[in-house]
Amino acid sequence: MKRALYQEPRFMAIPRWSPSFDKPMIPFAKPRLAILETERLKLEPLAEADAADLFPLMDDPEVMAYWDVPEIDDPDLLSEIVRAQVAEMADGGAIYWSIRTMAAQAFVGCCDLSDIDRRHKRAEVGFMLGRGSWGQGYADEAMQAVLAFAATAGLRRLTARTHLGNRRSEMLLQKLGFQEEGLLRGHVLRDGERRDCRLFGLLL
Ligand SMILES: CC(C)(COP(=O)(O)OP(=O)(O)OC[C@H]1O[C@@H](n2cnc3c(N)ncnc32)[C@H](O)[C@@H]1OP(=O)(O)O)[C@@H](O)C(=O)NCCC(=O)NCCS
Repeated sequence: MKRALYQEPRFMAIPRWSPSFDKPMIPFAKPRLAILETERLKLEPLAEADAADLFPLMDDPEVMAYWDVPEIDDPDLLSEIVRAQVAEMADGGAIYWSIRTMAAQAFVGCCDLSDIDRRHKRAEVGFMLGRGSWGQGYADEAMQAVLAFAATAGLRRLTARTHLGNRRSEMLLQKLGFQEEGLLRGHVLRDGERRDCRLFGLLL
């Protein structure tokens, strides 16, 4: 059994129900930016300085083969993307984590909860490891901690989307308990072509 440690999120007072549709009830507070620990891994909220560690992954065509955008070969562009992700976290729209080994503090990848919808208590998950870190159960271990965190933070539904052919990703999602919910035809426009995606969902 893997161990997932994190501090309890601090909840704000739940606002009183209002029938007004332009002021929808916010059912839970912005999820806290938590550090998650597992047996072998430490997940920390992404920082701007992590762009340097992320670059070799996002510059690798094999890692990026099933991503919505092709590999990124400009470190300045990646720094800009990471800066935007850090800002998105401050707004409560997403949490991106760096993943490092507990023992050597070696960077192995990143994962996230994005499109956090606090009204409907749902979010999308994402994950990426450097090629040298595949096949060791790291993504499984990291995502188990993310799922446990998501449940504690009040989320009740998680989704994931894979490009057709991303077997490793599909196997991981199925291991985590996600169910395939459908095919999103032509969902992504990449390299001038429309790609189909599979939608996966998990109720917490
Ligand atoms: C998707 C991705 C994260 C999956 O990585 P992964 O290492 O295959 O996934 P897991 O962590 O579940 O590891 C499973 C493998 O580790 C092995 N393993 C070794 N030790 C293990 C352990 N202690 N626990 C669990 N599995 C272990 C499993 O047997 C399995 O090996 P196999 O693939 O040879 O059958 C990775 O392929 C990736 O980064 N891809 C590129 C980015 C991407 O497409 N992201 C997803 C977008 S939707």
